[in-house]
Amino acid sequence: MTPAPIGVFDSGVGGLSVLRHLRERLPHEDLLYVADSAHVPYGDKSTAVIRQRVFAIAETLLARHSKLLVLACNTATAAAIHELRAAHPQLPIVGMEPGLKPAVTTSKSRKVGILATAGTLRSGKFAHLLERYGAGAEVVLQPCPGLVEQIEAGRLAGAETEALLQRYLAPLLASGVDALVLGCTHYPFVLPLIQRLAGPHIAVIDTGAAVARQVERQLHLHGLAAARAEVGAVRFFTSGDPGAQQPLFARLWGAALAVERL
Ligand code: DGL
Repeated sequence: MTPAPIGVFDSGVGGLSVLRHLRERLPHEDLLYVADSAHVPYGDKSTAVIRQRVFAIAETLLARHSKLLVLACNTATAAAIHELRAAHPQLPIVGMEPGLKPAVTTSKSRKVGILATAGTLRSGKFAHLLERYGAGAEVVLQPCPGLVEQIEAGRLAGAETEALLQRYLAPLLASGVDALVLGCTHYPFVLPLIQRLAGPHIAVIDTGAAVARQVERQLHLHGLAAARAEVGAVRFFTSGDPGAQQPLFARLWGAALAVERL
């Protein structure tokens, strides 16, 4: 019998930065990836709208027999993971949160910067994270409007994206941070640019690998790991136009692939 897949989703292509860690860590699992491209970005939408989208996509992934869901989106996690877990108490659901804890541990200056969407930074879930792990360090928050749009447009480098990032990094660097948290799953795709602008002495923290480890733990805990020797399949879906999305998906995934309509 084919094992049930893991359902992974994001507002757009950002969650592919998490999917690559899942693929590496759990090669025998079947993975379904949904980009809600028709509604990207989530970062400036209301909590109510994001929740509605999260529930709608979760339903489509559950209709395809997903055994575990990964909200590969910090904004969606902040807005809806509690509600989604309450609605599906038996289902393991793994979400994202900005890597504040590793940043505080890494920082020598005790000053860390968080790059994330406005939605993530204003959420109650983030306030709780700050309370829990922010003590003992100065935490400088930086919303990055427009950055997700640049990445969705495939502009991972170039003058426009560089100027935007320079603007967002300047206040963080001026305040002396030595650890930067990528608090949005889109941002790892501009990590080389961020690292170049910030300089080699700044630690840039992405939680994709930690989330893949957490998914592995949850699979074992629930007895859901795929017990087979063959490599699993990966399928990609979009709520937008598959033809228009395909080139960017293939570029970010680093291999030829087909994108299907959700
Ligand atoms: N990838 C997203 C996150 O991790 C959401 C970006 C957006 O749609 O604004 O927050």
